[in-house]
Formats: sequence, structure tokens, C-alpha cells
Amino acid sequence: MARNFPPDFLWGAAASAYQTEGATETDGRGPSVWDTYAKVPGNIVNGDTADISCDHYHRYPEDVALMRGLGVKAFRLSTAWPRIFPEGKGQVNQLGVDFYDRLIDLMLHEGIEPWICLHHWDMPVPIEEAGGWRSRETAKIFGDYAAEVIRRFGDRVKRFAPINEPNVIPWVAYNLGRHAPGKQNYDACLQAIHNLNLAHGKTVSAVRAEAPDAEIGNIVSLGPVRPHYDDAAHEEARVFGDCMWRRVMVDPLWLGTYPDPIAEKIEPLIKPGDMEEISQKLDFFGLNHYNPVFVAPNPNATLGYSEVMPPSGMGPLTDVNWLVDPDAFLEQIRDTSNRYGKPVIYITENGASYPDMLRSDRTVIDNDRIRYFDRYLGALLDAIDEGHDVRGYFAWSLMDNFEWGRGYSKRFGLVYVDYPTLQRIPKASYHWLKGVIEDNAL
Ligand code: BG6
Repeated sequence: MARNFPPDFLWGAAASAYQTEGATETDGRGPSVWDTYAKVPGNIVNGDTADISCDHYHRYPEDVALMRGLGVKAFRLSTAWPRIFPEGKGQVNQLGVDFYDRLIDLMLHEGIEPWICLHHWDMPVPIEEAGGWRSRETAKIFGDYAAEVIRRFGDRVKRFAPINEPNVIPWVAYNLGRHAPGKQNYDACLQAIHNLNLAHGKTVSAVRAEAPDAEIGNIVSLGPVRPHYDDAAHEEARVFGDCMWRRVMVDPLWLGTYPDPIAEKIEPLIKPGDMEEISQKLDFFGLNHYNPVFVAPNPNATLGYSEVMPPSGMGPLTDVNWLVDPDAFLEQIRDTSNRYGKPVIYITENGASYPDMLRSDRTVIDNDRIRYFDRYLGALLDAIDEGHDVRGYFAWSLMDNFEWGRGYSKRFGLVYVDYPTLQRIPKASYHWLKGVIEDNAL
């Protein structure tokens, strides 16, 4: 039996600047930390770089046509900080601004609402060299960058988010060192937490000042944190992991406080007025969800525990070994909704990587991905039935792209990108989701 989505449910898809644009040295763009990190041998699978990527910078008209063909009413993009400010601050690069003007105008012309995330991890190199997220000054500079973008595009763009998944940055970039800038340092991790939250707050202030009719929300990747094994040490790792993954970048925004057991460690970094700026009212909660996270104690890790594979025997897993578990998605929506006072929630990313094969007839039949979307959208409908205020869903991702440390070895797209010709080939999941969107029903 068909299950309907609410009549005004917002269907969307998402992507980010660094993962798709390419053209890293075009039209005055400055270098980002990912450009330099990707050039270090061993950092990215197969030595891939995002120098060309999907070449969305030049092929955006074709990509907007793909959005339109899919039937989405919204698309989540990010602006590249080093394209707007090649030095991270100071002189605006007009050619970079022009690119987003063209993209936004075309999307609006095609009836697609642009949602802008101001930072999807591509920090300008000069800002990193001056301390990056370890430095409090970066939050202020970020606020200036945000204000500039909002001034330029706020006449047409009505939904903004400051930083994509700020919880990934302290954890993966400053603790595990698996993302740029590749640090493994506990103090840096703590500083990044507070400075990222501060940057969030400054962006909220910028939106309220520069585009009072626009909405702003946070975008964070959350999933239940589970112990890999059932004993006291794993339970301790779970409690701390839960705090570091799910709470430190969310509680301050929505509750105005840092959670135990990290609060006393962050305390010395907080200045008068910080928490008020960080906890300004938001218009929506952008929830990215992929999987439950499993943790185990690890005395050699900066934080004393590590993220590990799901216990053996659990499955199915996606191509990046993430457990397919729609119940965990439902559990996460409940947690977010109940803990933060029933906010308006948009699922700003959800999707799966599978080893797609381009067949000789130039089609890609990704039935596993269809099953994944079907099950996760079912869980989303369950959440709506329970009364949680979920208003939209952005699939990750419109097309295959540069998957950070995994390079091009893993694919999350609804559209297959045939590297290096870069031909775009809608997969079976694209056609399937188009049908769901058309019917507004599963
Ligand atoms: C999300 C990010 O965490 O996960 C995306 O916002 C990313 O940018 C996606 O592409 C998949 O993660 P990964 O690590 O496989 O690239």
C-alpha cells in the first residue's frame, strides 16, 4: 500500500563545492586545505585529487538539468570559501561570486530552491596556516566571510547553514587526522569544537543582520553511538563517544550548554557572551544521517577510544562498511526531536555507497541503493507518523564525486559519473526516486 508524504514535503538533493566543482585554480580561486592534503601521498585512496572532480564549475547547466529531471524542489550546495576569498579574508574574488550568481540564477529559473551551506570543509590555506579552527580569530574571519556571502546572495537564497557537519571536523580532522588538515591533538580538538560553535553563532548573527527574511539552521551528522562489545570499558567509550559525536556541536546551539563530560574541558575557552551568540534561535535542524557509529576503547587514540567496524555478523553493510539500519535512523530522529524541543527537521543528507557497475548498454542498475532509500524513507515516514516535524529530505548525493579520503573509489550518486570522460549517467535509483517524488509517496 502506498504511503504518502505530507503535501508540502520538500524533496531535495545535496552536494558540496569541493567534492564536485573541480577548477581549483580557475578564476582566481585560492588554495584550500584539501588541495594540499590531497597532494600528500597516502592521504587519498589511489592518490586521487579534486582538481577536476566532476567539473561542476563548468558543467553546472547539465547538472541543474539533472536536478530538474529528478524533480527536486531544492538543492543543497556549498560555497567555496577560497573561491570567494582566495586569502580567506580581505579582497573578494568577483569571478568566484559570479559563478555562484550564475548557478543560483539558473536553479531559480528551473524552479529549484538553492540552500547554501557556507562551509563544507574547504578552508583557505592562509587561514589554516594562521591556526585554522584552533584559533578563535578564525570564527570571526568566518563570520565576515559568511556575512559577505549572505549579502551577495541573500536576495535570492532563503535558507542558509553555517558549517556542514561541524562534529566531523574535531573528530576526524583534528583527532584522527584522517581529514585535512590531518592533526592528531587533543587540545586542538577541544579548541576546534568551541571555535566552530562560535563561527556558527557569528553566521546566525550575519543572517539576521543581512537577510532578515532568510532562515538559518545547523547541519550535523548524527547517528546512535553503540559499544562494539558489551562490557564496562566499551560502555565508558560509548558515553564519551556519544558526547563527542552527537552532543558537543549540538547541545551548545540548541540548549546553550556543553555536555558532560567535556564541559569542564571547554570551560576555559569560553568568553563572556560566547554561549549567548552560539545559542541564538535557529529556524530548522538539518540532520544528516548515514549509520549508527560503533566505538571501542583505544588507549593509543587521542580521545581514548576509536570508531570501529560494526560487530561481525551484523549486516548488511554498504560499500564503506556502514551498517544499513533504518531503525537507527528512526531512533536518531526521535532523539533529535525530543532532546531539542521538537524543532523543524530537514534530513539534509542521507544515502549510501555501493560498487556501481557501468554496463555495456551504459546503464547502472543500483538495486541495493534503491532498497536503502526505500527502507530509510519508510523510517522517515514512521517518524512523521509519530509526530516528529520532519519537513524535507535531501538525498546524498546528486552525483558521484570526490569522497574525501576515499577519492573516487566510492560512489554515493544518483547519477553515475564516468571518470575521466565525466559523462553523467542517471542510475536506476535516480529514476526510482524521481517516481517517489512525482507520486509524493513510497
Ligand atoms: C557526509 C559528508 O558525512 O558523508 C559528505 O557531509 C560525504 O561530504 C558523505 O561525502 C560520505 O562520506 P565519505 O566519508 O564516504 O566521503
